[in-house]
Amino acid sequence: MLTVFPKLGSAFTVIMQVRQNGAMSQSANQDRLTFWANEAANLHWHKSPTKTLDWSAAPFAKWFDDGKINASFNCLDRHVNAGLGDRIALYFEGEPGDTATYTYRELTAAVKRAANALVALGIGEGDRVAIYMPHIAEAIIAMQAVARIGAIHSVVFGGFSAESLRSRIQDAGAKLVITADGGFRKGKATALKPAVDEALADNHCPTVEHVLVVRRTSQPVDTHPRDVEWADAMAAAEAEHVAHGFDAENPLFILYTSGTTGKPKGILHTTGGYLAQVASSHRTVFDLKPESDVYWCTADVGWITGHSYVAYGPLANGASQVIYEGTPDTPDHGRWWQIIEKYRVSILYTAPTAIRSFMKLGRAIPDGYDLTSLRVLGSVGEPINPEAHNWYGSVIGGERAPIVDTWWQTETGAIMISPLPFITKTKAGSAQTPMPGISIAILDEAGNEVGREQAGLLVITEPWPSMLRGIWGDPVRFRDTYWSQFDGKYFAGDGAKYDKDGDIWLLGRVDDVMNVSGHRLSTAEIESALVSHRWVAEAAVVGAADETTGQAVVAFVILRQDEIHDAGADHEISKILRDHVAHEIGPIAKPRQIMVVSELPKTRSGKIMRRLLRDVAESRPIGDVTTLADSSVMGAIGEKLAGGATD
Ligand code: WT7
Repeated sequence: MLTVFPKLGSAFTVIMQVRQNGAMSQSANQDRLTFWANEAANLHWHKSPTKTLDWSAAPFAKWFDDGKINASFNCLDRHVNAGLGDRIALYFEGEPGDTATYTYRELTAAVKRAANALVALGIGEGDRVAIYMPHIAEAIIAMQAVARIGAIHSVVFGGFSAESLRSRIQDAGAKLVITADGGFRKGKATALKPAVDEALADNHCPTVEHVLVVRRTSQPVDTHPRDVEWADAMAAAEAEHVAHGFDAENPLFILYTSGTTGKPKGILHTTGGYLAQVASSHRTVFDLKPESDVYWCTADVGWITGHSYVAYGPLANGASQVIYEGTPDTPDHGRWWQIIEKYRVSILYTAPTAIRSFMKLGRAIPDGYDLTSLRVLGSVGEPINPEAHNWYGSVIGGERAPIVDTWWQTETGAIMISPLPFITKTKAGSAQTPMPGISIAILDEAGNEVGREQAGLLVITEPWPSMLRGIWGDPVRFRDTYWSQFDGKYFAGDGAKYDKDGDIWLLGRVDDVMNVSGHRLSTAEIESALVSHRWVAEAAVVGAADETTGQAVVAFVILRQDEIHDAGADHEISKILRDHVAHEIGPIAKPRQIMVVSELPKTRSGKIMRRLLRDVAESRPIGDVTTLADSSVMGAIGEKLAGGATD
């Protein structure tokens, strides 16, 4: 491997050494850039970078700018060349019980063919490719193949609607869509291709030249002249493909996420810095031993967790990982534990919402399986409440396996705050410590650091390698959203505090973004989906506390009196509107409850007071109403609801 960086050994060794003498964070801060240069040097560079960070055009960062790198080569060929070709890269477990394993040699061969197939379809450097797939090996092969040829993937979660897919294809100007006929979920085949056809219908997406279709379920699909069968394209493609080095700052992918306005943001990540930090954090946060661990992250590739800690991090580290297509309850509630027992999974990374749903079902189910292979447990997506933490640690981890509560975001690209297993003494409910090389602060509104035990706003004070490089096509929104609150510092949108020991606790979003089952949803996006229905005059959405999903979507709607003569009773209206939201955005955005009201609480300047609606949704006494333009509104809502007019 070519390198210009001073070699300090593996990141893990470095961290062990400095942590053990208690000086890690100090050392990382003093020489943050050296730390990251060393992490980057663990990768294969086609041309080694001589520069680490260029922050001169802040907030637009450049990391390892003059280096050349290929993400796919790092995840695949590199391991084969190092003699690890026979190591299992993927253990694929389909929901119906079908399985497939790929060694690093086999996965490399598949990605090479797929890369050639993409080139044959006219895809080249910088082109955007939308991927709308079930959680199957081909989704990872597709992402790796796109990366390999320097194109940019935009994975759209398979649970999103045709409408959501269309707007993402349009925003990115995708030239190709890679999809499947469908996938298996909850014991049956679900369809994906019809949503692609609907998204592209009526020339809505003129940039799309082809649709590449993987056959997963054998359901009949409509075909169009633009469609190409994945199997045919793979069979026709050359086997050999030489990976070229691309500029470190070449875009790797766009991933859309919800913000505070109705329009999702295309978060842009680039190659060298992203891969360096994702690989480094995956190794240290999970204490990864690639030669012996079996790692399983349950996230779908449609989310950032599935990008950084399924499609890239584990492969960059030469790890063996499980991917499971289906839901945890198919064929029964023991499925996850059966998978852990079968593959002897040693590292499990999942979300608190999953833990809470297992908790409800009782420990008898996991107790029926041998989970003794587990040695590290991870949590991500929302704060893990102490009850869920304790259950996860004792019932699943057998009091042996430490839990790492990892805080990060689509925008940060990689884990930013987390305890390190076997090093940090963990604390239920706290993400605890910034990762090595990461500088965090908690500020008050005026930008001053808050004291311990005081709530404030979480900011990242120094650039980091896997940071987003922008919002696709919208530099103004990028500055406004993240860099305008505190000059030169990244504002995460989360509240946080330090406890008396200086450990960090995350306190939830401080903006109009909800967190439902660890997925980010925007109140504004659901409101605009609701008002797109002809019955709805006005809508307000809040995230209400929910025992299992963390937050649940609760909507308040005012109906158009002139349109609802054919509508039926409130509960029927509510059902139709819930389905409408699922159709517009996807089932994950479906409100738990829709309340039909005659007015919404607004301030004199016309802003909806969601705080008061949250009080109603969570059945609390209603708070201070003095800033309302009309203080009788909440009384009217209360009366209407007391009359039973909810879903
Ligand atoms: C938001 C980011 C990062 C992958 C999954 C979600 C919340 C995430 C934690 C945690 C408390 C957390 C934050 C953050 N969040 N992890 N360990 N403790 N909150 O990615 O969809 O980009 O959402 O999820 O509110 O801002 P995302």
